[in-house]
Amino acid sequence: MFKIDKNKIPYHVGIIMDGNGRWAKKRLLPRLAGHKAGVDALKRVTNAARELGIKELSFFAFSTENWQRDKEEVDGIFDLVLKHLKENYERFIHDKVKITTMGDISKLPKNLYELLVDVSNKTKHNTEFIVNIGLNYGSRSEIIRACNNLIDKGKKNITQQDFINELYTSSLKDPDLIIRTSGEQRLSNFMLFQSAYSELYFTKTYWPDFNKKHLIKAIKDYQSRDRRFGKIKQEKK
Ligand code: FPP
Repeated sequence: MFKIDKNKIPYHVGIIMDGNGRWAKKRLLPRLAGHKAGVDALKRVTNAARELGIKELSFFAFSTENWQRDKEEVDGIFDLVLKHLKENYERFIHDKVKITTMGDISKLPKNLYELLVDVSNKTKHNTEFIVNIGLNYGSRSEIIRACNNLIDKGKKNITQQDFINELYTSSLKDPDLIIRTSGEQRLSNFMLFQSAYSELYFTKTYWPDFNKKHLIKAIKDYQSRDRRFGKIKQEKK
């Protein structure tokens, strides 16, 4: 297999972290043990992404549909996010990581909401590396919210840029690559507008097992794709 091309690293990578439950089940562990191992994977992959030169990383941590899970699991996921943010708060500032969120975070438990607002504010001037977390996020709600924002602003005729400005991701580039783990091959309401030209990569690996090697494999696959954005391929002269 060819080596990774340092000049063609995807700028923004979106990750649908799937398979935590199955990872736990395989080990006869409670589902929350899978999510806990999922946070370890998130840390591993964040470090690896930064080392490889990725600039923006979006994680789908909790969808608008995930509220339908048992309360114990939902509360457990929020606790894990809270713990991760608390433990890494100083590190984000020191390492110049900007934390952004997408989704209606006002519906999250108050302590998590307040911490997310605080860490987003404290890190908003960092430009080195962005970690964007999808929490109570669903792309359809995001699109409807953008439309309502535009109506509220009295807009009658809008451009693509007007619309993009109302998305949670307005400060981010569109994802170049979207990775989904655990063998499922769908976007499940993740960045539907933003993914118009994203390359999609699916792997059978469960999220808690995903590591730097898997990320490199996904990037190499991405680099082998011919991204044309609707244009005709430029022949080499
Ligand atoms: C999908 O696996 C995973 C989730 C719904 C939760 C993922 C959340 C975390 C890993 C915590 C995120 C932490 C931070 C700091 C952002 P699944 O439960 O749907 O797996 P299954 O399909 O095998 O049941």
